[in-house]
Amino acid sequence: MSSDRPAAVVVLAAGEGTRMKSKTPKVLHEISGRSLVGHVVTASRELDPEHLVVVVGHAAEQVGAHLATVDERLRTAHQPEQKGTGNAVRVGLGALGGSVDGTVIVVCGDTPLLSGGTLRALAATHTADGNAVTVLTAEVPDSTGYGRIVRDPADGAVTGIVEHKDATDAQRAIREINSGVFAFDGRLLADALGRIGTDNSQGEEYLTDVLSILREAGHRVGASVADDHREILGINNRVQLAEARRLLNLRLLERAMTAGVTVVDPASTLIDVTVTYERDAVVHPGTQLLGTTHLGEDSEVGPNSRLKDTAVGAGARVDNTVADGAEIGAGATVGPYAYLRPGARLGAKSKAGTYVELKNATIGEGTKVPHLSYVGDATIGDHTNIGAASVFVNYDGEAKHHTTIGSHCRTGADNMFVAPVTVGDGVYTAAGSVITKDVPPGSLAVARGQQRNIEGWVARKRPGSGAAQAAQAATSEHIGES
Ligand code: UD1
Ligand code: CA
Repeated sequence: MSSDRPAAVVVLAAGEGTRMKSKTPKVLHEISGRSLVGHVVTASRELDPEHLVVVVGHAAEQVGAHLATVDERLRTAHQPEQKGTGNAVRVGLGALGGSVDGTVIVVCGDTPLLSGGTLRALAATHTADGNAVTVLTAEVPDSTGYGRIVRDPADGAVTGIVEHKDATDAQRAIREINSGVFAFDGRLLADALGRIGTDNSQGEEYLTDVLSILREAGHRVGASVADDHREILGINNRVQLAEARRLLNLRLLERAMTAGVTVVDPASTLIDVTVTYERDAVVHPGTQLLGTTHLGEDSEVGPNSRLKDTAVGAGARVDNTVADGAEIGAGATVGPYAYLRPGARLGAKSKAGTYVELKNATIGEGTKVPHLSYVGDATIGDHTNIGAASVFVNYDGEAKHHTTIGSHCRTGADNMFVAPVTVGDGVYTAAGSVITKDVPPGSLAVARGQQRNIEGWVARKRPGSGAAQAAQAATSEHIGES
């Protein structure tokens, strides 16, 4: 166990986030497949704290229920009124008996780009320097809205933090800002929190006041400047939400590219934190890789595809496709313009072609559904070909039924398979058939009306029409030829 291991991490997530102008609490907004607070909790876990407490308040039930799905070991503490970040930390410590020995890390639930590595570096600096408090700061191009770090002009030591709304013009010109992330000595923090006031423009208890309180009491106050200011971007509105998404997405794509994935156009590609991949996968422009999607070696996805919780096998090709909860076998081809719904399982070297929709359907090895078809609730064997424009009629208006088709079948174009129905191995079916009865192996099934030609019908019923004239001309030509 590392000596930098904090006693506790307190995540502040009780605010409403009014500047988001949203029904959804701010910390539940998502980027890259995870909520804002989910990102912060995940980074905090990398510190391996003894306790992880999230302070909730606004929409506490909703946020608490979400947090239980993110991390089952964390605890929540309820802040009934959002009286400021200092009050929030006091509430958080309250869940731990009011005070703890050792380091307490405080992070805000709205800084999703913060990495575990940066948090570890902060904890290490804090311990090595023997500080009472260490604040993570950054130099930013635009410090509007952030608390400014005020330093002693003589020795550069941090003397305090002034919130934007309380700052003088000279202080507003300061570009070094408070990230909202701190490492504290737990005992000194609890003590100082008892002494902060509300004498500021917002009438709130500012956590940031703890710095000047501790400094004035003669304790060591340190600052750790983040290497990359983009990591501490705090989300207060939807413009910042989009910027954070762009930055995190680029970070995730760079990780994929470093691991050997070709991303043709990072600017038009979206990838979630939970996506995995193997080398030499290629992602074409306009593609979204979501959830637990996995790209196998040499697979190729896109352009313009959205894959959610979908496994793409080695060497598979997926073009202009929407897939959710699908498994695509090695060397399979999908699209262009396919829709794979949950439970679509494509075997190795199989095909779901153009305007093909699959749902809860297992397609065997080498089997092809090339054109304009719906295959729902079905099992198809190996090396079968399904004719163009076929529909697996799975729904009788009340219940869904299953269709089974064997291996090495050749079903005709425009077939309806009215489930429940079973077609044996090696079967052929005639084009335009409506298959309502089981077909034994090796048969040809024909299920359609017999064709009848009523000669001379157009001349009798549509005399003088264009059709009649064309027919007349064709007939006399025919006679002339003979
Ligand atoms: C805060 C800091 C500011 C810093 C900025 C970094 C203070 C007073 N200000 O400002 O110095 O530059 O973060 O992003 O600390 N929260 C609670 N309970 C409350 C109030 C807030 O849980 O009573 C939570 C919010 O949900 C949010 C976080 O604390 O996750 C920060 O609150 P926010 O209102 O966003 O503070 P900022 O104005 O951004
Ligand atoms: Ca904020």
